[in-house]
Amino acid sequence: MAEAGAAQYVPPDADLGKLREASRDCHGCDLYRHATQTIFGEGPASAEIVMVGEQPGDREDREGHPFVGPAGGLLDRALAEAGIDRERVYLTNTVKHFKFEERGKRRIHKQPGRTEIVACAPWFEAELRAVQPRLIVCLGSVAAKAILGSSFRVTAHRGQLVDAPDPPGHAVIATVHPASVLRATDRAAAYAEFVADLKKVRAALT
Ligand code: URA
Ligand code: SF4
Repeated sequence: MAEAGAAQYVPPDADLGKLREASRDCHGCDLYRHATQTIFGEGPASAEIVMVGEQPGDREDREGHPFVGPAGGLLDRALAEAGIDRERVYLTNTVKHFKFEERGKRRIHKQPGRTEIVACAPWFEAELRAVQPRLIVCLGSVAAKAILGSSFRVTAHRGQLVDAPDPPGHAVIATVHPASVLRATDRAAAYAEFVADLKKVRAALT
């Protein structure tokens, strides 16, 4: 059984460079079979904030970097507007391979399931150990539920500072996923609320 989770592929006490390299060979769940490559987190080891999304999308899968597609562009703008320096942020995903369904020539994003989320968690835990951020920011409910438990509701608690049970001692703020802002009917309002949450992130660090 090659697909018994990522733990066996994670080198102990490794820095980000070594972790990234090792993550390329991860067969911890089935997703590596169809995706192009592992998309590991990016950003400085000295980052004060770790932001965690859901999983790489089509563009990320092809280009090899997290948040380089439309959702990433919106996140970049919102971070700038909230006054958060990208250099203070380490950006990663809950699941590190793109999960999709093929429809003709298009690859349609599929939400990762419990099995894949649990399988991939050792990579995120290793990233946290390497970066030791002051704050974790969950972008969307997949990340929020993975970190804060399955009963956590982003809609009820967005923008609020909460304590993470696991790993303990980390302050966490959850907000919506930038892709949900792009899909919103009232995009301007959704964007303004997203920026307002990010301003709370900035305030929590000062
Ligand atoms: N959405 C995510 O959650 N992560 C990415 O890297 C890109 C889009
Ligand atoms: Fe490994 Fe995560 Fe990719 Fe699954 S999704 S193969 S656990 S890196």
